Amino acid sequence: MDQEHLPDSILIVDFGSQVTQLIARRVREAGVYSEIAPFTMAEEAFHRMKPAGIILSGSPAGVPEDGSPRAPDILFEAGIPILGICYGQQVMSHQLGGEVRPGHETGEGGEFGRAYLTVTKECALFDGLWNVGERHEVWMSHGDKVTRFAEGFEIVATSDGAPFAVIADEARKFYGTQFHPEVVHTPDGGKLIANFVRHVCGLAGDWTMAAYRETKVREIREQVGDKRVICGLSGGVDSSVAAILIHEAIGDQLTCVFVDHGLLRLNEREQVETMFRDHYNIPLVTVDAEDMFMEGLTGVTDPEAKRKFIGKTFIDVFDAEARNVGGADFLAQGTLYPDVIESVSFTGGPSVTIKSHHNVGGLPERMNMSLVEPLRELFKDEVRELGRELGLPDMFVGRHPFPGPGLAIRIPGEVTKERCDILRKADAIYLDEIRRAGLYDAIWQAFAVLLPVKTVGVMGDARTYDSVCGLRAVTSTDGMTADVYPFDAAFLTGCATRIVNEVQGINRVVYDYTSKPPGTIEWE
Ligand code: XMP
Repeated sequence: MDQEHLPDSILIVDFGSQVTQLIARRVREAGVYSEIAPFTMAEEAFHRMKPAGIILSGSPAGVPEDGSPRAPDILFEAGIPILGICYGQQVMSHQLGGEVRPGHETGEGGEFGRAYLTVTKECALFDGLWNVGERHEVWMSHGDKVTRFAEGFEIVATSDGAPFAVIADEARKFYGTQFHPEVVHTPDGGKLIANFVRHVCGLAGDWTMAAYRETKVREIREQVGDKRVICGLSGGVDSSVAAILIHEAIGDQLTCVFVDHGLLRLNEREQVETMFRDHYNIPLVTVDAEDMFMEGLTGVTDPEAKRKFIGKTFIDVFDAEARNVGGADFLAQGTLYPDVIESVSFTGGPSVTIKSHHNVGGLPERMNMSLVEPLRELFKDEVRELGRELGLPDMFVGRHPFPGPGLAIRIPGEVTKERCDILRKADAIYLDEIRRAGLYDAIWQAFAVLLPVKTVGVMGDARTYDSVCGLRAVTSTDGMTADVYPFDAAFLTGCATRIVNEVQGINRVVYDYTSKPPGTIEWE
């Protein structure tokens, strides 16, 4: 983002906490734009963003440890409000002249899990929310603690395990909480963070998707000029939203390419074509590559070999098609914020990991194209909100994730067109049942798999010898971990009956009760 376009914002300095992203969520929920910068890059981000306030995250490190991270001093000298959370509170105290000691030295150990604090003094952070004398539930997770605060600070809330549960320097507008307001286990945490960004930092809380859409349309126009953009559509929400936003900005300079590799869900191709071509009038090229993919998958049973073949062939097909439409200078991708946040190790080492989960990875270098990634600042549910803002129907906006390699990784063993057809039917019935039961939105991802196992059954008076279908449904927030969705038995029995009755080739249905970890969501 160009500096001149940065809305009033909050800089979140990451010291490597597992939950730093949640701070960004809470700030955005308060209607304020925020960005996370690893502590090693915080100074650069500070100059670029000119934020209205700063939040210092937690960390797995301890302030008393040698080599543990510090915030750039300039942040404390900038005259803007700061909220330090857990390690953030400790590092701020330490850097401003206070003292932090390991729990084992204070003889009190750490404090982990639910705790109650008592408000001892009025504080701008608590305005309209917490009053003096009240007790409130919070979530603690710390070993070390502040034992002497820096000059100018005073205690405004205490807990049994942390006498300095919340400290404040109202003159400088510096606040520190020993607990974690960003996690849901601190019931008023979101409101405290909203108080900080709106009330203390004075931000209006008017960062909306409508504003984001306007900003992005302007930026895309500036970036692309009169050049051409190509976008690979997968039918998923990210690439769909990216395409519609870019089309709004540059119209027919955008061409979308949809590769039908024969591994799609039932009617998926028609749905994508109708939506983009007819509804949005976006130039769309569908590539019929089913035969090429099926031939290449013949005899392939190893999951990694399948994935590699599909990934490579996808790029070949996309590349050829991009040339067919006359080439393009830019490639559009639906990259999201969690993909680009650079995670740091708490020693500040070079452990920068950038996840890349895109089907067209590798293309920009090969084709010498620049990237247009208009969703880079958004979380998944924000992309959904933007999709709604752009008029994308719920069917697309709320769709469960679907992997790039498609049905191929839901058919253990050899993938054939016939087996894809069987699986498509079973999957459609399963999802139909889920929708009818009103459960679709409560589930992160649900799908059927077709096992390379045949079992004996009896239908009518006849013996059957057919394949087994597995059903999977999980809840998750990011796909990294997942819990099994607890359908009731009657629901699963109903699905099994319909699938066996309506899909020729399947005579038995099983439900997958494995969480992630130790399982993965997909079967391959
Ligand atoms: P796993 O199976 O690793 O999946 O637990 C986690 C999430 O990622 C999706 N997934 C993929 N998405 N390309 C994608 O775009 C892929 O190659 C891929 N593999 C898995 C999966 O559907 C789940 O939502």
